[in-house]
Amino acid sequence: MKISVVGTGYVGLVSGTCFAETGVNVTCVDINERKVEMLKEGHIPIYEPGLEDIYKKNVEKGRLVFTTNLEESLKDSDAVFIAVGTPPDEDGSADLKYVIGVAREIGRTMDHYMVVVTKSTVPVGTSVKVKNAVLEELEKRGEKVPFDVASNPEFLKEGSAVDDFLKPDRIVIGTDSEKAQKVMKRLYKPFLLNGHPILFMDITSSEMTKYAANSMLATKISFINDIANLCEIVGADVDSVRKGIGSDVRIGTKFIYPGTGYGGSCFPKDVQALIRTADENGYSLEILKAVESVNYRQKEVLYGKIKRHFNGDLKGKKFAVWGLAFKPKTDDMREAPSLVIIDKLLEEGAKVIAYDPVASEEGKRILGDKIEFAKDEYDACIDSDALVLVTEWPEFRLPNFRVLRKLLKNNLIFDGRNIYDPEELNEMGFTYYAIGRKPIIN
Ligand code: UDX
Repeated sequence: MKISVVGTGYVGLVSGTCFAETGVNVTCVDINERKVEMLKEGHIPIYEPGLEDIYKKNVEKGRLVFTTNLEESLKDSDAVFIAVGTPPDEDGSADLKYVIGVAREIGRTMDHYMVVVTKSTVPVGTSVKVKNAVLEELEKRGEKVPFDVASNPEFLKEGSAVDDFLKPDRIVIGTDSEKAQKVMKRLYKPFLLNGHPILFMDITSSEMTKYAANSMLATKISFINDIANLCEIVGADVDSVRKGIGSDVRIGTKFIYPGTGYGGSCFPKDVQALIRTADENGYSLEILKAVESVNYRQKEVLYGKIKRHFNGDLKGKKFAVWGLAFKPKTDDMREAPSLVIIDKLLEEGAKVIAYDPVASEEGKRILGDKIEFAKDEYDACIDSDALVLVTEWPEFRLPNFRVLRKLLKNNLIFDGRNIYDPEELNEMGFTYYAIGRKPIIN
């Protein structure tokens, strides 16, 4: 089989590379010539564990190629996946100009049957717009090339996207065509040997599934963060509560970790988009509105603890921030809680020295010289007043606390992810603040 994947961003590149891994011939298309050149020369523009190996292997085997020429790539393709960006426009809603632009070009150039698949996360109703755009262009040409559209949302987590693609929990396909179903089934069968399902449904339900999934997950996080804050007030320990509720299989142990609020490119954007879709349709999604406002508040919770500890006076104090990325195993800082915490500290006249194992470069790009960047986690702590842990990278989990005690000015740790053992820190004489737990004051 042969497919085209348009857009070599995060989703397009991971999808294209993983499809090639099954033996499919994949052409990845992008209008950005520099990016295509880079990819041809063997450089991947994103950080994603495991991607480089299978990219190299499939490029060598000639199954994964890159081009700026969409028309050329469509020759003999069984399907074309649209995986271009949908940046928020002025009012925050997804700007579909790239998605529709690609659909139009497909309509202008296709010469045989293919399935036009929307892979980008797009508002409910977009696949109909894609279909109409292709049809309009075909009509202009006065030709009747058959095609079908399908919606195929991705559920990839940054940091484990390759694994998620190769071993998906489920594949969701929205289409009203049996022929398209057959093509999609063939393409995805190799990934479903673990028995996980491919779910066919109508297009609108498929588009809705993506938003409902991310909104449900965001709801779990805001829920546990809200409970964590209450735990603190009433003197309970959210870690015990989390385990207590999570062992009920109806609730489950996953995705109920309290922290500094959710960030990233998906949850904040998708929750907002679903709220907007509902509003536009005359319905108010009350739960999601609360999920969003709890998340805004949560991003400031750790900062609030810092400020209270220092009785409101942060001027001239220096804080070592561990972790800038919105979560471990990525360099992505979009909507990262670190940005809110750092901004607040700077506003109060404090100094910040940060370290992130992967996102320091991205941090420099975004924050410039507003803060300092340390060469490693211990370097950040030299003469700092406190350590503020924001992202739970594995290498931060078991630091040498004896060394930290020597480097930090005060034996003081603010843990935004509850990764340390309060007893251990107490024995070592640290003052320790976490989320939803009693502080240890020494
Ligand atoms: C998410 C979805 O998981 C994925 O299916 C979808 O396709 C894209 O959006 P991603 O944004 O990569 O993936 O990150 P994810 O691992 O889901 O974490 C999102 C945010 O929630 C992070 O900021 C993380 O720190 C936070 N989180 C997650 C918590 O605060 N607590 C948890 O228990 C889990």
